[in-house]
Amino acid sequence: KQPNAVQLKEVGPRDGLQNEKAIITTENKIELINRLSDTGLDYIEVSSFVHPKWIPQLTDAVDVLKGIDRKPGITYAALVPNLKGLERALDADIDEVSVFMSASEGHNKENINKTIAETFPVLREVVQAARAAGKTVRGYISTVVACPYDGYTEPSQVKYVADHLFDMGVQEISLGDTIGVAVPTQVERLLDELLKHYKPEHLAMHFHDTHGTAISNIVASLPYGITRFDSAIGGLGGCPYAKGASGNVATEDVLYLFDTMGIETGVDMQKLLHASQFMEQQMKRPLTSKQMAVFRGE
Ligand code: HMG
Ligand code: MG
Repeated sequence: KQPNAVQLKEVGPRDGLQNEKAIITTENKIELINRLSDTGLDYIEVSSFVHPKWIPQLTDAVDVLKGIDRKPGITYAALVPNLKGLERALDADIDEVSVFMSASEGHNKENINKTIAETFPVLREVVQAARAAGKTVRGYISTVVACPYDGYTEPSQVKYVADHLFDMGVQEISLGDTIGVAVPTQVERLLDELLKHYKPEHLAMHFHDTHGTAISNIVASLPYGITRFDSAIGGLGGCPYAKGASGNVATEDVLYLFDTMGIETGVDMQKLLHASQFMEQQMKRPLTSKQMAVFRGE
């Protein structure tokens, strides 16, 4: 079973840049987002309103949001961990708020300094206030297949967290293979369980590509009716609180897959590659995507 169209959700300016050693200037982040806005993407996660000490790369979230040229029809989103972050996100007039937590205790504690049970009331306040302010809300669940601290994650644990997030008023859940270890059989086991309870249009897949399995995991998700996939330009990034996590699957590699399968995305490959090339110049290193290697003529 193959969908006619899918949505690519670009997370490079957030998930990509949060884990890169190089600090990109605010001006260059704005340039990157403006270039991405011109590729046909209709969803861009631009930054994070987290504690500046935890993620020093993204302290300029308000300036980035206020500096970009917002194109009609594009949703500009950001991560928000608590009410303090929401205040800044609303000040910058974010379109969509993304709350986040993990399916495993170990990663949740390392990443947001709370147990899973302590996290629910904090996120509930954020979701309710964001919805009251007229924003849509996305929820991330990290470590859905494995945790760098606790080992493998049972699908029932993911369902337990998802039930709480949907109950709070989250409209879509993005399922994160934070450390990029999943293989298709594990994705199938997870989706076999979750789709007994939820509709595929309320789920998105968020694959990191540490072991080179992200594209096969995306292909494995298609028969379940999933049509939303997170990816990062150039394959930038990772998670700073998950050792060994490498970048997200690269947007241009996901686009190659869908273009070649004849599945509509609305995204222009040449414009995407030029945005990726711009980031290579800023990072002063070749980016890891396969399509960039082809583009460079390697
Ligand atoms: P904490 O230290 O427990 O927070 O951090 P707290 O509530 O105890 O507050 C301590 C101080 O921080 C206070 O200041 C607060 O005001 C301040 P003080 O009174 O001491 O002067 N503070 C803030 N300042 C600015 N903005 C805020 C904020 N909140 C509190 N929002 C917290 C808890 C959640 C804030 C912290 O742990 C944090 O910021 N963590 C973020 C970690 C992060 O961003 N990780 C990466 C994103 S998740 C990811 O990458 C996975 C994903 O891609 C999916 C996947 O791949 O799986 C989404
Ligand atoms: Mg991630």
